[in-house]
Amino acid sequence: MNDIRPVTDDSRPKIYIETYGCQMNVNDSEVILSILQDEGYALTDDMDKADVILANTCSIRDNAEQRIWGRIDQFRLQKKKRDGVIIGIVGCMAERLKDKLLDGHQVDIVAGPDSYRSLPSLIRAVTPDTPQINVLLSHEETYADISPVRMDRNGVSAFISIMRGCNNVCSYCVVPYTRGAERSRDPKTIVREARQLFENGYKEVTLLGQNVDSYLWKDSVNADNDVNFAQLLEMVAKTDPSLRVRFSTSHPKDISDEVIYTMAMYDNICKHIHLPVQSGSSAMLEKMRRKYNREWYLERVHKIRSVIPDCGITTDVIAGFCGETEQDHRDTLSLMEEVVFDSAFMFAYSERPGTLAARKYPDDIPYSVKTERLNEIIALQSRMSLKSNEKEIGKRLRVLVEGPSKKNSDELCGRASNNKMCVFPSCGEKAGDYCEVEVVSVTSATLICRRLG
Ligand code: SAH
Ligand code: SF4
Ligand code: F3S
Repeated sequence: MNDIRPVTDDSRPKIYIETYGCQMNVNDSEVILSILQDEGYALTDDMDKADVILANTCSIRDNAEQRIWGRIDQFRLQKKKRDGVIIGIVGCMAERLKDKLLDGHQVDIVAGPDSYRSLPSLIRAVTPDTPQINVLLSHEETYADISPVRMDRNGVSAFISIMRGCNNVCSYCVVPYTRGAERSRDPKTIVREARQLFENGYKEVTLLGQNVDSYLWKDSVNADNDVNFAQLLEMVAKTDPSLRVRFSTSHPKDISDEVIYTMAMYDNICKHIHLPVQSGSSAMLEKMRRKYNREWYLERVHKIRSVIPDCGITTDVIAGFCGETEQDHRDTLSLMEEVVFDSAFMFAYSERPGTLAARKYPDDIPYSVKTERLNEIIALQSRMSLKSNEKEIGKRLRVLVEGPSKKNSDELCGRASNNKMCVFPSCGEKAGDYCEVEVVSVTSATLICRRLG
């Protein structure tokens, strides 16, 4: 079993990794480091010292890819400075663009999300004239036996991937093409990883999947032993009452009452659900192939709040999807006002080649209209975040310290169970300690608290 922290030994060849995109990519970079550390590599955060430079990439929107093309130009400057430096593009953009990334020999290695076990052999096989590529997608790979080497350095909170891929094919989304079919990981290996993290001093784990609610481990002998997401959540929560458990992302069409009740039953399952709505218009949701409508979404929010009144609910919103009318946009705004999300990630629609939407629907909302709508959504959410934070004033919260506050080193910051960021005076605690606080004032992003006890 690997050590949980990176090796930084000076005599070893060096690997430098930049990570883009979602939390799953962050966790994948830790898997990659684990695989390469076993091959004798050590991590460096200095690109100038690296023998192998990797970018773990994202394709979710066009601007994510444009950013990486810019980085490739920077990486190539290293090749001019030092002979033998190997540049690899891995992750979703590698999977989407495949050998296009090798045109003009821009990079030496292209490896998709399911081919990280082959990275050592790809690196060995690279010569100045023979770049290497492996973009095979798998129906089985979950890297279940690999202990990711944690690069976060705060030693408090870690990601655990519980599944890979996605079977949903939302019409705008590139993920099913870059990450392949959905597959769930053996729950025994998930529980083992949570326990190992806890024994190494971690206080919080976040279970990751594109749609955690469709997690299902099928027992090969007896269907009674199948494990669904609610059951997995319970198994991980039982690791230790002082290990907090989070998860992301929930899908409104799949989040079950069983999951909501399981959350309510365990104090250490954090009371926060990231529940991307995408749009408040049922017509848009239908076109997006989200398989729920506005009413269904509102009912799920109502159910969550009736069982867990203090549950934090956050979301993702897309502005300016194909054919979105002014009324559809108004429907998104009115849904946001009705729900009062605690926070949201908000995006302008970006057409992704090969997706159903790209093939079927013209990307017909002018850039200026998309931006205008997005700005309106962002401005409204900022008011909603403030409104939702104001409700916290006077409440007592238990916060897991992440470290000193960025603005004032005499203060600490950390998250409450509902995922809200809290700032409060330090009494010498360190990352990983729990503090009891009371909220005294708020901004739209932070709860400002005083100490209790
Ligand atoms: N699996 C998660 C989300 C993964 S992608 C889910 O189903 O909710 C993260 C977010 O990126 C999405 O929720 C969506 O809001 C946004 N997104 C995905 N594709 C996009 C596109 N083509 N244009 C703009 N935003 C997009
Ligand atoms: Fe993309 Fe939809 Fe899958 Fe999320 S559920 S990753 S939005 S296809
Ligand atoms: Fe991006 Fe791939 Fe994640 S496209 S959002 S890195 S699954």
